[in-house]
Amino acid sequence: MLALVPALLLTLAWSGMAARVLPIVGGIGAWEAVVRTGDAAIEAARTQPGTPDATAALDAHAALLDASAVQARRTAFLGQRVIGAVLIVGLLLLVVLGIVTWRVAGHLSRQLSRPLDELVGWTDRIARDAPLPSDAEVTVRGAPEFGVLRDGMRRMAAELEAGRRATVEAERLGAFRESARQVAHELKNPLTPIRYAVATLRRQATPEQREAIDVLDAESARLEAMATSFAQFGRLPDAPVAPVDLVALVRSAARHTLPPAVTFRYVGPETLVVDGQHEALQRAIANLLLNATHATGGHGTVRITIAEMATEVRIDVADDGCGIPATELPRIWEPYVTRRAGGTGLGLAIVKQTILAHRGAVEATSTPGVGTTITLRLPRLPE
Ligand SMILES: Nc1ncnc2c1ncn2[C@@H]1O[C@H](COP(=O)(O)OP(=O)(O)O)[C@@H](O)[C@H]1O
Ligand SMILES: [Mg+2]
Repeated sequence: MLALVPALLLTLAWSGMAARVLPIVGGIGAWEAVVRTGDAAIEAARTQPGTPDATAALDAHAALLDASAVQARRTAFLGQRVIGAVLIVGLLLLVVLGIVTWRVAGHLSRQLSRPLDELVGWTDRIARDAPLPSDAEVTVRGAPEFGVLRDGMRRMAAELEAGRRATVEAERLGAFRESARQVAHELKNPLTPIRYAVATLRRQATPEQREAIDVLDAESARLEAMATSFAQFGRLPDAPVAPVDLVALVRSAARHTLPPAVTFRYVGPETLVVDGQHEALQRAIANLLLNATHATGGHGTVRITIAEMATEVRIDVADDGCGIPATELPRIWEPYVTRRAGGTGLGLAIVKQTILAHRGAVEATSTPGVGTTITLRLPRLPE
């Protein structure tokens, strides 16, 4: 409409102007006057007797005047007709142009506005957390750029969803940590005097009381270990970061954690330094070695492999113990998930928390009856 209306008005205006102005500026008016006065002059000249030469000249002039007048009238008549014809052709062209414009506008609408409308609908879906349509479900594809835009929005929606899930997970873990901190606190307070009392009793005990005191001692020690686990899980590792030799750390953890009946093998470099928190990392390895000990019934083989990759260090802790059923495998990292009598289910949760705090990642593979491998990945010391 923006183009057609002005074009229509202009066409009408110029044709009107041409029809009015052409006769005024054209030669026809002047010619009519010349013919009128010329005819009068010739008539006047003819009434006088003249030489044959003069009569011939008058006749020639009269004929030329007539011919010129006819020519001028013909031209004026054609001029009028041409304006009308041009006007009709112009209007026809405008109609054709209008149809073409209509089609182009329709095409542009399909290519631009409808896909845009659809994408606006997508933002609504993202806000409502509803799934986005797949490529097969998209009805108005539009220009190829919209495909890129749709892919980008799908990626963004996936990232948002992952972020949302991570937030929920972090909140859940935070709540677990808080409760663990409180349990540790409530357990620790009475345990210290109990342990002290048991030690005092042991000194004064008669041989008959020994057995009961041993039970008290063992159970309160177990409670104390539990309280320690709760306390460790209850707070994120926050010691200062320093260079840590992983190989020395692994060897020392194995020495202090594994019972003599468990065979320990180490495969890897003789020394490998990463930036980290020594105590937390050592506790993580110790937790894995303890799990391996439990899984092998205290007399299997544990093999730790350290591999130095381009951007990370990989630590595999493999045992030939009972293994973990595939259905349980995804849950073992969650706090309070245990399949062991007397277990807290916090060992692997502490390991994961520690490795994540080091910007690393954890992973477990297991075959029931064959063994389990726990893999830790830590980012390497920056060059
Ligand atoms: N090396 C392993 N072999 C077999 N099962 C394992 C191993 N490590 C962990 N698990 C399983 O994962 C569960 C959770 O482990 P963990 O978080 O350390 O808690 P806990 O040792 O207190 O049970 C264990 O109860 C056990 O069933
Ligand atoms: Mg454990």
